[in-house]
Amino acid sequence: MIGSLFSLAKPALHALDAETAHQLTIRALSLMPVSAPPADDARLSVNVLDRHFPNPVGLAAGFDKQCEVPDQLLGLGFGFVELGGVVPKPQEGNPRPRVFRLARDEAVINRFGLNSEGLDAARLRLVNRRGRPGIVGVNIGANKDSTDRIADYVLCIERLCGLADFLTINVSSPNTPGLRDLQGEAFLDDLLARSIEARDKADHGRRKTIVLLKIAPDISLDALDAMVTTALRRGVDGLTVSNTTIARPDSLQEKELAAETGGLSGKPLFVPSTRLLAETFLRVERQIPLIGVGGIDSAEAAWTKIRAGASLVQLYSAMVYKGPGLIGDIKRGLVQTLEAEKTSLAQAIGRDAVAIARGRF
Ligand SMILES: Cc1cc2nc3c(=O)[nH]c(=O)nc-3n(C[C@H](O)[C@H](O)[C@H](O)COP(=O)(O)O)c2cc1C
Repeated sequence: MIGSLFSLAKPALHALDAETAHQLTIRALSLMPVSAPPADDARLSVNVLDRHFPNPVGLAAGFDKQCEVPDQLLGLGFGFVELGGVVPKPQEGNPRPRVFRLARDEAVINRFGLNSEGLDAARLRLVNRRGRPGIVGVNIGANKDSTDRIADYVLCIERLCGLADFLTINVSSPNTPGLRDLQGEAFLDDLLARSIEARDKADHGRRKTIVLLKIAPDISLDALDAMVTTALRRGVDGLTVSNTTIARPDSLQEKELAAETGGLSGKPLFVPSTRLLAETFLRVERQIPLIGVGGIDSAEAAWTKIRAGASLVQLYSAMVYKGPGLIGDIKRGLVQTLEAEKTSLAQAIGRDAVAIARGRF
């Protein structure tokens, strides 16, 4: 139903600039009654991170930046949704236009720069949905003009713990100058130590809020070694691989749009982000679960992420091109694959990580 509505609305939406179309989509979702998500096939359920996910297909950060429509998004059939990025103080982000559709490449470039209504607004919306079912996380970042970026993450954790199932530390957005420097070893160690300490203190006596770390696809394998070691040592609960890329593959057809500054997502991100996911899986050795994100646009792509090492997956850009019907398509396709291969999701996780890390998908 919602898939057919999208097919009807897509030409009109794509005639608008990408940000206006997105604002209309959020508005339309906010007007939708909240409905219970369709029941999922039991074979799709995933038990990780001390939570029961009804299916492994999640919505990636950046779609519902202001935390306005989490329950409507869950109603579309996602197994979990990540809201945000949220930063402590309201900030406008970069001037418009700041998001571009590379239609022939089925890709998106964005340089939003963490536009956010701020932590208080996000928190209030989460307080108002407290007690509702569904797994909801929040992606957190630092203000552009912050003088103590680590304190920004700590504040987000202190204020959001208990209101979300998980919080994702975003040090990988390419659109806030200097943010990715926090991925450097010394900074990261301090950031993660203080974040986990803040979480433990805020959650005292309550079920733990999960803390995830989201990494960029543009890091070297040496940097990945250091990040994984630091994340494991500091007790991060899981890693999300990956954010958007600043690289511009030669294969891009929309040459003019490809020259826009920002992070590239969608189909062209699939191979690099999945290789990095496999490399991460090989280093993490199943000590913590991974969330695979980047270029998922089909059941086959989701299945490859799982074989590369993802316990859960997320997507965003493909929703722009294929609409919400994609969620059901991916879930149905995954069940068919499980049946055809006579296997389970648990058995498939990381099964082909070695080959995929070497580029053999
Ligand atoms: C318009 C847009 C805004 C985004 N905003 C955020 C954000 O605030 N925080 C974050 O960690 N990732 C953000 N992302 C990255 C996505 O969460 C995801 O990691 C990336 O787009 C790759 O997935 P995809 O290829 O399925 O889109 C954004 C992506 C897009 C397209």
